[in-house]
Amino acid sequence: MQKYIVHGGIPLYGEVRISGAKNAAVAIIPAALLVNGVCRIENIPQISDVTVLLKILRCLGASVRFINTSDVEIDCSQIYTTRVPQELAHKLRASYYLIGALLGRFGNAEVSMPGGCSFGGIRPIDQHVKGFVAMGAQVNEGDYIIARAADGRMKGANVYLDVVSVGATMNIMMAATLAEGTTVIENAAKEPHIVDLANFLNLMGANIKGAGTDTIRVHGVERLHGGTYAIIPDQIEAGTYMTAVAATGGDVLVRGIIPKHMDCITAKLLEMGVEVEEKDDTLRIRRSGALTRTNIKTLPYPGFPTDMQPQITTVLALAQGTSIVTEGVWDNRYRYVSELLRMGAQIRVEGRTAIVEGVSHLSGATVQAFDLRAGAAMVVAALAAKGSSEIRNVQYIERGYEDIIGKLRALGADIRSVDYSEERAEFPRQIG
Ligand code: EPU
Repeated sequence: MQKYIVHGGIPLYGEVRISGAKNAAVAIIPAALLVNGVCRIENIPQISDVTVLLKILRCLGASVRFINTSDVEIDCSQIYTTRVPQELAHKLRASYYLIGALLGRFGNAEVSMPGGCSFGGIRPIDQHVKGFVAMGAQVNEGDYIIARAADGRMKGANVYLDVVSVGATMNIMMAATLAEGTTVIENAAKEPHIVDLANFLNLMGANIKGAGTDTIRVHGVERLHGGTYAIIPDQIEAGTYMTAVAATGGDVLVRGIIPKHMDCITAKLLEMGVEVEEKDDTLRIRRSGALTRTNIKTLPYPGFPTDMQPQITTVLALAQGTSIVTEGVWDNRYRYVSELLRMGAQIRVEGRTAIVEGVSHLSGATVQAFDLRAGAAMVVAALAAKGSSEIRNVQYIERGYEDIIGKLRALGADIRSVDYSEERAEFPRQIG
């Protein structure tokens, strides 16, 4: 069990390189199950969600070989079971992608209900199931979701999503890739990782058109072949470092990003008085003056991402004036606010709205990471706060941020990861 110790109030300076996108990687790795050959996937982030997914693929019979720390070769030609071990599937939300991938390739999937960040409420998968059923599968939902395609192969169908769902869009795409006939997904999500999954599958021989728009057409093909694909950079990791600089002040080059993916975040930081300069695959973030208030509403892409809501709210907590944040994607994503209040923030939550009265500074405190992005917000808050903070439950943060300690320390932050069990030692060993 690790916790982070942060001595805050230090502006950040230097350069940070962004890793591969978590939410693309956690879809593309299961999608390798659709491929009868060797997929070389590059720019994989070193995060615990990826480690668990690769372990699951190995348990199903895949051969997984790291070429170096971020490039991996996956060969799913010898899969011998379509039942995913419960103890592994429970560890992450993205295990639901194994259903679409296994159904698409083998017409059969048994996956226990996914785990992952709950935000304190239920995260339904009814839209995924609706798609599978439209494509001729029978789906039984108990402790395990057991799905079987009629005649062993999925059939193309028209699927209209009642809510814009990233997971349902990608899962149905996977189930449709090797189906008989054409599947049309309407009201599809448009996030960059959806385009990334379609690009990966197309490179392996799929025929998917329209990813990145709200209508995606998947013309089923007979088989996919191997190939090499590099995952896009992580929009949310980049955004998190941008908010860290906004909160602490300083001057940082965020390297290896796709600027277009960052527009929704950049626009809001500019409104708040943060300087953002774009050049090729780099953004330079500077903040020396005061932060100004703004309003934010999270929406599906290209709207402001819900996965940046806790981090940007933390910055707004330090901006002059009153800001209104509206969560437009999830019902309950403000649990972290209680922790910011302990640090001196003034925020009132009313349903999906947070009313943020900016304060001059936050003060160090002992806080919890309730989920991945809530944890990232705690890091941003602690970096900006006066004094020392302790962040607990950091295993959530490490599900999605590669080497966050190393990257922040390289920017001059005073942050370290400490083993709880070493607390009793006279001189705790520093890790990271
Ligand atoms: N929804 C339904 N039914 C469904 C699916 C979703 O009602 O069958 C609702 C959800 O309750 C939510 C909304 O639709 O209100 C959007 O959910 P979506 O399906 O888009 O979310 P997801 O696919 O489960 C992914 C990311 C989340 C990110 C959301 C929204 C992964 C593994 N997770 O979740 O990322 O918040 O899209 O962009 O890709 C994170 O990275 O911290 C994270 C939580």
